[in-house]
Amino acid sequence: FFHTEIPKGLRRLPGPKPLPLIGNVLELGSRPYLSLTAMSKRYGHIFQIQIGMRPVVVLSGNDTLRQALIKQGDDFAGRPDLYSFRLINDGKSLAFSTDQAGVWRARRKLAYSALRSFSTLEGTTPEYSCMLEEHILKEGKYLIQQLKDVMASDGSFDPFRHIVVSVANVICGMCFGRRYSHDDQELLSLVNLSDEFSQVAGSGNPADFIPALRFLPNALMTKFKDINARFNIFVQKIVSEHYATYDKDHIRDITDSLIDHCEDRKLDENSNVQMSDEKIVGIVNDLFGAGFDTVSTTLSWSVMYMVAHPEIQERLHQELKDKVGLDRSPLLSDKPNLPFLEAFILESLRHSSFLPFTIPHCTTKDTSLNGYFIPKDTCVFINQWQVNQDPELWKDPSTFNPDRFLSADGTEINKLKGERVMAFGMGKRRCIGEVIARNEVYLFLAIIVQKLHFHAIPGEPLDMTPEYGLTMKHKRCHLRATMRARSEE
Ligand code: HEM
Repeated sequence: FFHTEIPKGLRRLPGPKPLPLIGNVLELGSRPYLSLTAMSKRYGHIFQIQIGMRPVVVLSGNDTLRQALIKQGDDFAGRPDLYSFRLINDGKSLAFSTDQAGVWRARRKLAYSALRSFSTLEGTTPEYSCMLEEHILKEGKYLIQQLKDVMASDGSFDPFRHIVVSVANVICGMCFGRRYSHDDQELLSLVNLSDEFSQVAGSGNPADFIPALRFLPNALMTKFKDINARFNIFVQKIVSEHYATYDKDHIRDITDSLIDHCEDRKLDENSNVQMSDEKIVGIVNDLFGAGFDTVSTTLSWSVMYMVAHPEIQERLHQELKDKVGLDRSPLLSDKPNLPFLEAFILESLRHSSFLPFTIPHCTTKDTSLNGYFIPKDTCVFINQWQVNQDPELWKDPSTFNPDRFLSADGTEINKLKGERVMAFGMGKRRCIGEVIARNEVYLFLAIIVQKLHFHAIPGEPLDMTPEYGLTMKHKRCHLRATMRARSEE
């Protein structure tokens, strides 16, 4: 790459000088979002590093990302062939595999339409505006009860441990038509492994780039293989049960709808994209995986910010009390009346930047960006953290301040500013679960804020340092909650 011939009129990418064999691994360090943001100040919003022997282009800056991912979207829409990605969903993942453009596009379309149909489907009774609202309201009630019970028995609780079960149940409801109890060991053993999954799948894992490392004992990689295997067995069992009870005239959930698609396709002689049934039904694996970890991590960070900023927690409760009251459940339709809650969610996404990089991208052909030459099959890291902390875009970026998203009178969200928060990626690979995710985060938080007050345990300082990974988590901790009494009104 460093010796690649550069086409006339284009420039060679700048970047730090790599060491033999290891490249720039040492400079990357254990928090690549910080080291790569520091490098972007020195080399600009497009530069290259080398991890092991492999070149990686790093992109940051709102305008550069827009240019690459939207205006030149097709050129940057691939995924790199990385060792850890081959282990996810048996190498057949929609989000992580190196599927060719046609196959990926067809699978993405299927996944998107299945998600949309099963979230907007009518609820089972008219009190719910749609299936998504029904699932969240029901899980929200269970969550509040669960936290109340745990507080009564243990005096404190680990927020992530309980939130993740509730969120997993929402996506399980849509994908598999079932929910699990908060004590279900099979589900717990899966959803509580997401930390290790994240650490291996994070951008810049040296084992992905330096083949020799794969042959050394690596406890984290062994765990990663185990998590993926367990995950597949869990989903496979449910899928087999669906095949056994599938009825064309009664499609129960996303799994059924994907099976149905396989059946229909066999009758469709004009279908031009060749895909195995496994690749179609395997989509449900991605939806389940992507659907619980991200949303629970957002909620868990939000709870931490509420505890760290009690005055903000009070304002959130007050807004809910004024606009919704304490007698009925908040609904999706209340969202426009709760601008402070929306500002708080945007600020939680921005400030935590818990997805510091998107999933790595890859160029699909020789291309150029802002006058720099980038060859086909180059791995590309998208630095979302840099955009969310960019002093050119945000005043005092390191301060947690939801008001930055509100109009001066506090009644409206500044839409333009809200759109600048980079959390879901942009362009061709943009998250397909964004609408569902934003609705889930909003409604779960509204339910929580209405009913509970969180506080830290005296003498136990809050540790908000993120642990690096695909989705960065705060350290597991214990908090206390008190129920908000109706008599407060
Ligand atoms: C991809 C963020 C929730 C399904 C992504 C990407 C990001 C992201 C950054 C990668 C974009 C890229 O590579 O450029 C988030 C955040 C969420 C969230 C912050 C919650 C707050 C969800 C949910 C689902 C979902 C709830 C599904 C139910 C997916 C899928 C992809 C994806 C399938 C892969 C798309 C592709 O490769 O074409 N998401 N996501 N996500 N997300 Fe989400």
